[in-house]
Amino acid sequence: MMVEEEVQNASDATARDAVIEEIAARAGVRAERGRRFAELTSLRVGGAIDWVVLPETEAQAASVAGEFEKAGIAWRVLGAGSNVLADDSEHHYVVLSMREVKGEARFDGERVSVSAGFSLPRLCVEAARQGLSGIEGLGGIPGTVGGALWMNAGAYGHEIGEVVETVRVARGGRVVEVPGSEVSWNYRHTSFREGELLLGATLRLRPDAPEQIKARMEEAKQKRFATQPHGARSAGCFFKNPPGSGLSTGKMIDEMGMKGEKRGGAVVSPVHANFIVTEGEDARASDALALAEEIRERFRREHGVELEYEVELWSATNSKDEGGGMKGEEEKTEGKDES
Ligand code: EPU
Repeated sequence: MMVEEEVQNASDATARDAVIEEIAARAGVRAERGRRFAELTSLRVGGAIDWVVLPETEAQAASVAGEFEKAGIAWRVLGAGSNVLADDSEHHYVVLSMREVKGEARFDGERVSVSAGFSLPRLCVEAARQGLSGIEGLGGIPGTVGGALWMNAGAYGHEIGEVVETVRVARGGRVVEVPGSEVSWNYRHTSFREGELLLGATLRLRPDAPEQIKARMEEAKQKRFATQPHGARSAGCFFKNPPGSGLSTGKMIDEMGMKGEKRGGAVVSPVHANFIVTEGEDARASDALALAEEIRERFRREHGVELEYEVELWSATNSKDEGGGMKGEEEKTEGKDES
């Protein structure tokens, strides 16, 4: 790089930093520097982040997102970081963390309204206590409600999309309510677009006896405990199951003899082969990625099937990465015909 270019880049970065600080300050929102994805994701790997911005209310989140858009500042939304593998490089964009946008779950008859940063396991427990059924299969899935909505989280016969009445989304700095029926809720995938900020949702559940709901939730949790690693640094299932096949990717990786396979600090979980777990202080995102690619390569060879990532890969350099797109200069999605 030429010297003038370096100087120009440095001054651009300084100007951008000032804008970010000002936007956060104006909205009364905390903005932090010096954080790493290794601290913010459940896999505990991933590189430095320029800025982490932490709104505490849905309105604040909508407002800062709108301001970033206007200023052409690239940003990505992060919930609990339990389904994200961010690479080891420096990530030069703003991470809009929703984990403080928690509030309280507000129950009203069969409905519950909840913000994106609210804990999914806690919501399941509270719904059961209120005698409301429909999400008990999701009990114990780590993550936020926002993350669950984003990817239509599911387990043991329940998917969150089935019970969504409306989703609150940030558009043009404001909170807009979108009917759940206008969203496509697919297998671990929805029609929400990259960079779209989900603020919260109203779920409509079904009344049932709290004891029975709790029993079903307990059963799901026990199954999960028995068949999936817990307490380990993971991002849940790494790959989707081959669509429409009724096959389990985990079972197939297991049958390929890959449980316990290691690359640096990344290991194919000995408990469930569709989980990659990280171990030790020196684990890198590149270890997990290398292991994942090795699995995909062998899967392709032995089964002729291209495994699709279920975790989101966040690349520092490529904003159009699989599942890791970013809202920013070239990625603006204003003008898209929203419902
Ligand atoms: N199995 C093995 N070896 C393994 C893993 C599984 O033999 O290493 C066998 C199991 O014994 C069982 C069958 O494969 O007979 C299916 O296993 P499991 O019930 O764990 O289901 P799965 O298809 O592997 C899916 C979801 C999980 C979800 C469970 C339960 C995907 C990619 N995975 O796993 O979701 O918790 O069903 O509903 O859809 C996630 O989304 O992150 C996730 C973990």
